[in-house]
Amino acid sequence: MNENTLEKLKKEQTPLYYYDLPLLKETVEVAKNSADRFDYTIHYAIKANNNPKILKEISSLGLGADCVSGKEIELAIENGFDSHSIVFAGVGKTDREISIALQNNILAFNVESVQELEVIASIAESLSTKACIALRINPNVDAKTHHYITTGLDENKFGIMMHELDNCLAIIKNSTSLELVGLHFHVGSQITDLNVYKRLCIKVNEWNNYFYERGYNVPILNLGGGLGINYCEPDEESIVNFSNFFYLFHQFLELREGQKVHFELGRSLVANCGTLVSRVLYIKNGIKKNFAILDAGMTELLRPALYQAYHKVEKWEAGNIAEETNESNNIRYDIVGPICESSDCFGKDVILPKLERGDLIAIRSAGAYGEVMASRYNLRQELNYFYKE
Ligand code: LLP
Repeated sequence: MNENTLEKLKKEQTPLYYYDLPLLKETVEVAKNSADRFDYTIHYAIKANNNPKILKEISSLGLGADCVSGKEIELAIENGFDSHSIVFAGVGKTDREISIALQNNILAFNVESVQELEVIASIAESLSTKACIALRINPNVDAKTHHYITTGLDENKFGIMMHELDNCLAIIKNSTSLELVGLHFHVGSQITDLNVYKRLCIKVNEWNNYFYERGYNVPILNLGGGLGINYCEPDEESIVNFSNFFYLFHQFLELREGQKVHFELGRSLVANCGTLVSRVLYIKNGIKKNFAILDAGMTELLRPALYQAYHKVEKWEAGNIAEETNESNNIRYDIVGPICESSDCFGKDVILPKLERGDLIAIRSAGAYGEVMASRYNLRQELNYFYKE
């Protein structure tokens, strides 16, 4: 950050979401180029961040969209995504949302249960149209991530259970309004161990054979998302290694004639371009702790309270950003928000240069699952924005 931007930022009302649009563009371009090498398609999981500026930037770079509600489908289309690039996931799609998706001729429903398949068939029939569907299979692969964001195990609610797949195929065969276009898998989020994806590929190969043996050469294999980022070092590794990620699938997936591979990436595309910027309201020197009380809390960024997630906390001041600070001036703080909950804490024992009322505090890597998970709890003021163009 240059001093000019910092000076502008200082005049803004906090808390605000700071978005680095050039970094977003670079990240998406790197991801897209890496995927293009293998002719892979990326759908941006817009649940990670549905800010219109971000959506417009990503759609303009040619990605598809991955949506989880009718509203997300409408928002994606409003912000430039081609409706035929949209995949629609979610265990609880309502009839209204299914109709919206059908009317917009989306690429595929990622179907999560037998009953959902039947409902989609009947709504498509009543609208005299055909629904393109991908069956979401729960592959029972451990994503080795936080248990709240693990989705591919037998105990998770996601996907169709293996013993029901034959039943699904029978329904598809007997329906004139369903077309099987894909198989879908997604095992979790913030996955940093690429071996997880290797295990997933092995399972996908088995399922691909299973369908082939039953007469289906399914055109799309959708491997979901989940690629994790480095929350500890947002500047050293501001863009994740997309080449390694896609190359792994190139190595281990066994494709049949005509099959295409799709992904649904969220976090890895947007997390590092966003920072929650806040001000120190008060410093409180407690008996065991020093508290820095901010004007942002769990209502602006829920991840630390909900998943005990780590986000790097920095003091943003001229000459101090990303540089060695004078250690003798450093103090240990618990960085907390203003909300009436003890879980409203961004970091414990964070070592920072001495803080004062009014100082700007940056909570980094907040571009994914930050703004979208904000709530109205405690009825605090509306969020503000600052876009680095
Ligand atoms: N596809 C499906 C079916 C998903 O459920 C998700 C995320 C994605 C793709 C995108 O995953 P990503 O590439 O962003 O990891 N709120 C949590 C994350 C929840 C992820 C939900 N599903 C967090 O803040 O960590």
